[in-house]
Amino acid sequence: MKQIVELIENKRDKLEHSAEDVQRLVSAYVSGEMPDYQMSAWLMAVLLNGLSSDETAALTKAMAESGRMVDLSEIPGVKVDKHSTGGVGDTTTLVLAPLVASCGVPVAKMSGRGLGHTGGTLDKLESIPGFSVNLEPEAFLAQVRDVGCAVIAQSADVDPADKKMYALRDVTGTVPSVPLIVGSIISKKVAGGANAIVLDVKVGSGSFMKTEEQAKALAAELQRVGESLGRKVVCIRTDMNQPLGCAVGNALEVAEAIETLKGDGPADLTELCIVLGAKMLVLGGVADDERAGRALLLDSIAQGRAIQTFADWVEAQGGDPRVADDPSLLPQAAHTTVVAAPRGGFITGFDTEGVGRAAMLLGAGRATKDDTIDPAAGLVLAVRAGECVAEGDPLATLYASDDSLFAEASSRLLASIHIGDAEPEPIPLFHEV
Ligand code: URA
Ligand code: CA
Repeated sequence: MKQIVELIENKRDKLEHSAEDVQRLVSAYVSGEMPDYQMSAWLMAVLLNGLSSDETAALTKAMAESGRMVDLSEIPGVKVDKHSTGGVGDTTTLVLAPLVASCGVPVAKMSGRGLGHTGGTLDKLESIPGFSVNLEPEAFLAQVRDVGCAVIAQSADVDPADKKMYALRDVTGTVPSVPLIVGSIISKKVAGGANAIVLDVKVGSGSFMKTEEQAKALAAELQRVGESLGRKVVCIRTDMNQPLGCAVGNALEVAEAIETLKGDGPADLTELCIVLGAKMLVLGGVADDERAGRALLLDSIAQGRAIQTFADWVEAQGGDPRVADDPSLLPQAAHTTVVAAPRGGFITGFDTEGVGRAAMLLGAGRATKDDTIDPAAGLVLAVRAGECVAEGDPLATLYASDDSLFAEASSRLLASIHIGDAEPEPIPLFHEV
């Protein structure tokens, strides 16, 4: 058997690993035989030299099989999962889980804590008073059967390879690698029991993939590797050159999801949820094509089934279902302030990551792993790219528990909203559907 150091040297020298080599690396790392410094070196070699599709598929399979494989076979039908490659203010899961479930496709979702600076889906859900993201496997399955959806924290024994590797990548500069991202995302979905996966690959300033070419390469590889492991995979690419929807912050995004489920949400968030949801209904076998899927989703929103499913879901996980009717029951910030436009002109674009940082400075995210999140903190943008503002017009409202946080967050936000004299080209939400 090859020594671990030989495997690292092989990748340094751009040699191809066999499936057994890759399996050996993953199991040695999970067992503790391979220390962090060796895995760091291998990860950097992969970031610099890449992996072939075969190597990536072997990595993905080894990671998925590194722990418990969730069995969803008790739940009838095709189990469809959805994943976004991360962005700022991405509220889609909160909308999609009940929306798709209300149309008859079960959503059994395990969500990771992630490493992002803004809160993840679990943090958003936990801002609902009483909501618990920790369910035993039997309760999780029973809830999916009874209510149609459940979203829980991924337990430690599922895909432990990804947990360990992702944490290491975060501190070794090895996150933005196509094969490593593919391994991380697809292994979690395979271990989580999904038969079919809808992926939303983000492009732009708020995401890992800054250019169209990078995003295309990632989407193609996600599909190739997912399909080689026997999963149906559908990918779309969407824009992150401005935040999705207007709210960035945990309870603020729950309120935005509630509005969207009632048909009153921001246009971009609504449209993205309908496009992703239609694909999920097709994969789940309840719609013949996307046009039929769209019609089912819009009807569920219009008839109130979507928001009712949200309320049932929240109640099933211990949360207060009355938030669906009265979002003021969500945590409320003690202080608010309005950030005004320093000059007139067109909103030419956003540094989306900067907007996320501003929300984090208000308490909506974590600067370090151990930081606690303020569920009420964040911001709501009042403007979208392409709009015209006069000097002094509101750009955003900031929410915080401590008003001393406003000064730094405001200047960070102002630096992230670009105002110019010329009307910009429209920013398309969809790069490829
Ligand atoms: N999201 C993941 O889950 N893993 C990655 O590596 C990148 C984004
Ligand atoms: Ca949002």
